[in-house]
Amino acid sequence: MKSYKIAVMRGDGIGPEIIEEGLKVLDAVSERENFELDWIEYPHGAEHYLETGELLGEDTFKELGRCAAIYFGCIGDPRLEPGVLEQGILLALRFYFDQYVNLRPVKLLEGVRTPLAGKRPEDIDISVVRENTEDFYIGIGGRAKGNEKKSEVLEIVRNLYQVKFNLDVETDADELAYQIGVVTREGCERVMRFAFELARANGKTKVTSVDKANVLTHSYGFWREVFNDVAKDYPEIETEFNFVDAICMWFVKNPEWYQVVVAPNMFGDIITDLGAMIQGGLGLAPGGNINPDGVSMFEPIHGSAPKYKGKNVSNPIATIWAGAMLLENVGEKHASESVINAIEEVLKEGKVRTYDLGGSSKTSEVGDAIVAIIKSES
Ligand code: IPM
Ligand code: MN
Repeated sequence: MKSYKIAVMRGDGIGPEIIEEGLKVLDAVSERENFELDWIEYPHGAEHYLETGELLGEDTFKELGRCAAIYFGCIGDPRLEPGVLEQGILLALRFYFDQYVNLRPVKLLEGVRTPLAGKRPEDIDISVVRENTEDFYIGIGGRAKGNEKKSEVLEIVRNLYQVKFNLDVETDADELAYQIGVVTREGCERVMRFAFELARANGKTKVTSVDKANVLTHSYGFWREVFNDVAKDYPEIETEFNFVDAICMWFVKNPEWYQVVVAPNMFGDIITDLGAMIQGGLGLAPGGNINPDGVSMFEPIHGSAPKYKGKNVSNPIATIWAGAMLLENVGEKHASESVINAIEEVLKEGKVRTYDLGGSSKTSEVGDAIVAIIKSES
């Protein structure tokens, strides 16, 4: 029997309980489809950090590198400064495994009511391809104080390239802070190609590129230039540019316009929270951090919701759907589709729903209902 070693990082807050439902569903479908999922649990997250001082060590990265994929819950804990876990775990994983695509489906499932009056599942079906390793997320910057000359070297080291900024700062402002965003031709090109290939593979006819080239002319003007170059290799696919502010408006007004959307890291982050809302809420929005030639990681796009930790009330569907994306990624397309169909069956039936969808079911009841449908189809 085919077997896949999958790393599981449940993380913080509601992470453990939503991942539990994901494991339940993926185990049910793997049993039916005759393959095996060998789950390897990793304790990393806030609790582990507070106890041991370890975020993610080199040894762990090496072990993870031997897995077929990573199934990730969510991180974040009010006892820690913002950024510690985000940078030390989530972004560290994305960067270490060079998961340069963050693929986020914005798709209205059957049985979900979108807050956009009158929109149907066929109107909301967008693949957002978010660049996942560059832009303002590279984490370099600093502060300077007036009348103090400052020189520093800021460096990014990646497999794909290295960059060094030798920076001299002189200012008479009381104090200032700066954050450097970088986009490279290599970095833009690979994620744009992924978007065009995705469109091609799914019979889509249009790719929309998001930027703010009218103001951030250096970085996003360059993004635009690279997009035009890449587009030449896909003459059958129509292209367009949207400014990030405008696409926020159009996602609400005319979501049916969009098919595949490719965006730089930070804008991709922002527009996919908006996308989550138009597809019915954060409880329904999955994401894949993908390296087409390496180890990819799948997670709900929502955070750890510490308020709801342990209450068994959170919606596990985003996580279960992320699990379906994981199955597709390891090559189990049929199993992946049946998980998504089972999710839609449960939503359409409408009896088992968590509070975010107007119901009062428990997290575990949603998982059970999805499993029951998968089992009934065997
Ligand atoms: C997301 C999250 C992360 C991001 C945070 C937690 C670092 O908001 O996955 O969208 O900004 O990428
Ligand atoms: Mn986000």
